[in-house]
Formats: sequence, structure tokens, C-alpha cells
Amino acid sequence: MSTLIFALPGNETLVDGLAATKDFQRGDWICCPFADGETHLRFLADVQDQVAVLACTLDRPDEKLLRLVLAADTLRELGARQVLLLAPYLPYMRQDRAFAAGEAVSARIVARLLSAHFDGVVTVDPHLHRIASLDSIYDIPTRVVAAAPAIAEWIGREIARPVLIGPDAESEQWAAAIARAAHCPYRVLEKHRSGDYDVRIEPAQLDELRDRTPVLVDDIIATGRTQIAAMAMLRQQGLPSAICVAVHAVFAVDAADVMAQVGPERVLSCNTIVHASNVIDLRPAMAESLLDLIRAIAPMH
Ligand code: R5P
Repeated sequence: MSTLIFALPGNETLVDGLAATKDFQRGDWICCPFADGETHLRFLADVQDQVAVLACTLDRPDEKLLRLVLAADTLRELGARQVLLLAPYLPYMRQDRAFAAGEAVSARIVARLLSAHFDGVVTVDPHLHRIASLDSIYDIPTRVVAAAPAIAEWIGREIARPVLIGPDAESEQWAAAIARAAHCPYRVLEKHRSGDYDVRIEPAQLDELRDRTPVLVDDIIATGRTQIAAMAMLRQQGLPSAICVAVHAVFAVDAADVMAQVGPERVLSCNTIVHASNVIDLRPAMAESLLDLIRAIAPMH
């Protein structure tokens, strides 16, 4: 039996990819603004006793979160047996502690909110730094899709003699996993951040890598300043122009323009957030994780 999957606005390509298989069927619904800006929701598909999936990546999340809550609770009122969330990008994960007195620990708050309205969540490489795993903040089952195998496959196919570069300690998890799968070396740089737009990368001795193509890999490109500072440092060390890879192409404000001025060889990302840099398709892996979650929580479905 196929599972109904509903695309929140902007997630149509994601859902089309999943609905191309026999396991998922695109659900008909209306989700549009009323004249006053509030959200009009109406499910046309019959969801009684069904597992229903809402697909919504959660970059720029504040408005999307309320829509999701409205949609999830409506599905439940209409008799859906289970309501799942496919959110390829999970928001607020970098706000994982109060960095100043009185600051919100938004990662935990968003996890509580989503746990209250959904029966399970599938996402791609959430930013896990000071929070060890999603299970420590979510009260519902979660599944995490790892982007590393698909990125490694792309690198293996497209780049001769790569070296993976993680711009900071947190990125080591991706740099190491991708390097292992792509059979190439990796290095991790030391980053100091003193504000959204203020990033410094310590110079590193990389002489022995000058004949390799540096592939800078990070989970998120937001302001782009991490990648810009890393590219500049690599250039100072005499390495060729870097290929910049992100799992999640958030690209806040002027990131794309400012990065382009520095002259990367190429910038590319996975399709967890729709962006011109999307090259690596994670929809098959997302579909597998969703099916695994459905089998675990709704075995008779
Ligand atoms: C931080 O720890 C993350 O892994 C990324 O390095 C960071 O979010 C990138 O942000 P930006 O593009 O704003 O430098």
C-alpha cells in the first residue's frame, strides 16, 4: 500500500521524486494564503486510517512551522493513523545552547514542538554538535539520512586526486566519512567565529597537498563566510581553487554573490533545500529512510 505524501509549498520537486516510486503517492490538498495572510488548508485526499507524510524542508522556518502544525493537526482530526514529517533540513540546530544569558535554546524548543505534533521525523544530516543525537531532544522516532555516501560517489566520479577539507572541528564528521568512502586524504582546519560575518581560519601547513584538488565540505553554507575564509587560506598555501560542497544550501542574504567573488572552482550542494547549486540527489535515500520509519511505527501499513 502506498503512503500519502503532501508537499508543503516549495517542496513539490522533493515530493515528485518520491511519488515517482510505487511506495508513495502524492496527496491532493490545498495550502495557500487567505487574503489576510493566514493559511488556508484543505485536504482533498482521504486520509482516514492512513499514514500521511508532510514534506517540508525547514530553512527560513518561522512561517513554515505554523503551517506544519496546522497541517499535522488537521490530518489527525481527519483520522490519519500516523502523521510523519519529512524535513530534509532541520532548523535551529546550531542554536544548541544559550551562548549568552537569557538566550533561547531553540534546538530543544523546536524539537519539543515537532514532537508534540508528529509521530516521527526523517531528516538529512542535522547539525549535531553539542547535542549528541536527535533522540536526546526528540520524543518521537527519528531517522537521519547521511549525505556522505552520495557526496563521496559524486567526488569519486568527477574529481581526480581530491583532498577533503573540513573548515572546522564540527565538519570533521563529514570530511572523514566522505574521504573514507572516496579513498582520499582529508584535513580539518581551525576556525574562529566572532559573529555571523566574522570568520577566521588559522593558516595550516598543506604543502604536500598542492597537487590535489581541495574539496571544502561542510554541513551548511549560511552566510558563506566559513567557506570564504577557508578558500582564502587554501589559496595562501598554494593550493588550486577549491570546490565548495554543502549538504544544506541555506545561502543567507549575500552568500552566493560574495562566495562567487572569491572564485571557487565550483559550488555544489545536496537537494535538501532547493537552490541553483543542487547537484547531489538525496531523494532515493530519503525515501528509504521514510520507509524504514513507516515499517517501524506502522508495521501493518
Ligand atoms: C558550523 O558549525 C557549521 O558547521 C557551518 O560551518 C556553518 O554553519 C557555516 O556557516 P556560514 O556559512 O554562515 O559561515
